[in-house]
Amino acid sequence: SLLVLVGNCMSVSPRKKNEPPLVKGFIPWLGHALEFGKDAAKFLTRMKQKHGDIFTVRVCGHYITVLLDPNSYDAVLDDTASLDFSRYAQVLKQRIFNLRLPNHNPDTERAWMEQHFQGPSLARLSSRMHLHLQTLLREEERSCSPAEWRQDGLFSLCYSLLFRAGYLTLFGTEKSNNVTELAAVYKEFRKFDGLLTKLARSTLKQEEKRTASLSQERLWELLSPAWLSRGKGSESIDHGLNSSSWQQSYLRHLQREGVDTEMQRRAMLLQLWATQGNAGPAAFWLLGFLLTNPEAMRAVKEELRGLALQEDGSLQHHLLDTLEHHSTPVFDSVLSETLRLTAAALINREVIQNTTLRLASGQEYHLRQGDRVCLFPFLSPQMDPQIHHDPQTFQYDRFLNADGTEKKKFYKDGERLKYYTMPWGADKNMCVGRHFAVSGIKQFAFMVLSRLDLELCDPTATVPPVNPSRYGFGMLQPDGDLEVHYRLKTLH
Ligand code: HEM
Repeated sequence: SLLVLVGNCMSVSPRKKNEPPLVKGFIPWLGHALEFGKDAAKFLTRMKQKHGDIFTVRVCGHYITVLLDPNSYDAVLDDTASLDFSRYAQVLKQRIFNLRLPNHNPDTERAWMEQHFQGPSLARLSSRMHLHLQTLLREEERSCSPAEWRQDGLFSLCYSLLFRAGYLTLFGTEKSNNVTELAAVYKEFRKFDGLLTKLARSTLKQEEKRTASLSQERLWELLSPAWLSRGKGSESIDHGLNSSSWQQSYLRHLQREGVDTEMQRRAMLLQLWATQGNAGPAAFWLLGFLLTNPEAMRAVKEELRGLALQEDGSLQHHLLDTLEHHSTPVFDSVLSETLRLTAAALINREVIQNTTLRLASGQEYHLRQGDRVCLFPFLSPQMDPQIHHDPQTFQYDRFLNADGTEKKKFYKDGERLKYYTMPWGADKNMCVGRHFAVSGIKQFAFMVLSRLDLELCDPTATVPPVNPSRYGFGMLQPDGDLEVHYRLKTLH
């Protein structure tokens, strides 16, 4: 096949002295785009085995230098004068979301985001999330009875519940919690999400292009509050004042930044994806690993019992308080281990002026203006056998010390690592919603485990394989699903 040819015809030559080795693809302009898009983890693992921790590949006319040594990541992250993080992000925003923000200031945006996902705002969001999760789960329960098992795919169960709760928390207003609309947003979002990696790589077929753009239009429509469509800009702000959702404040922020109404509408879809696209898949992998690792499930349930809530086992009432006041090291380790195995974002930088990268090994490499640099923490540190023993295997206590405290010491070549797992990215790419994400996933998992009997339909089933086209886009998603059945727990 063509890919075999590509593999056989590769040659390595430095472009200039002191530049990283250049791995030429067989197809001159396209370079390694096909392999990259098909399964970036597999391709980059092969390159790492052949060429080491730094090399340059060609993808669609661009030179991309890939660095895979976590001890050297700071050399890239700290060089903010020569390595720019926002330009390539803008390119992707335009390609995926048709979003152009001409006067965009990434620093103000980030400051706004941080302010709204920490302190009192975070507490308010977490408690709203709790309320919505509880209500949605109650609805789910109402349709179950203690005697009757219901069957579903675990991925669709987790994604749909967390998406809906998260949407109501950030985008809902008191009067807009319309069940039909919620279902429509979720359904349309999943359609769009399914085409997102192809949109980003510009590899949609004609038919898919039409579907993607219809889906986009529909979501812009569904997501824009009535007052935004009616109004012509900033004078419409007041219509939204009496409800103060996160979405409304964000729109006001965009208006202050001078973003026009059309781009405000489009920005909503980007934010829907950033805020709702990862937690559902993460909850799926977490419950999936627990269900397929009985020892881990026992340990988590024991920790849950240790929280000693209400006698009837329903801890819903005080769940949020309890989680705030009790540590849950076993659950935390399970979550870290889950994310180590399934969080796979790429960290991109554009070289805006020639610079020299000094690696931890002492070696120096020139980087050329106009090229891109890319870190892929999923391969290293997360799946690096020199750092994590047997990295393909889920070990629920990997992030626990023998005394039950959080394990933070990991080594490579005898050197202690600053970055031993990076599900949230780093530096300017660090997820601003991570505390909210952890809180939501934890609440969801504990609610499900305490209120439902949840079992695999096939007790010998394993978690499904990863959809390999999603490497580079945050949380991975499964190819297929894991069938489960559940029923309401009988109370003692
Ligand atoms: C950005 C991971 C859940 C809000 C990011 C980035 C990563 C990430 C790696 C950086 C992307 C980049 O710049 O290339 C995750 C993971 C999650 C999760 C693994 C769940 C397990 C959430 C949730 C929210 C959220 C629940 C909010 C409700 C955001 C936002 C950004 C972001 C707003 C963009 C930040 C910016 O523009 O500077 N996330 N995320 N994330 N995340 Fe998360």
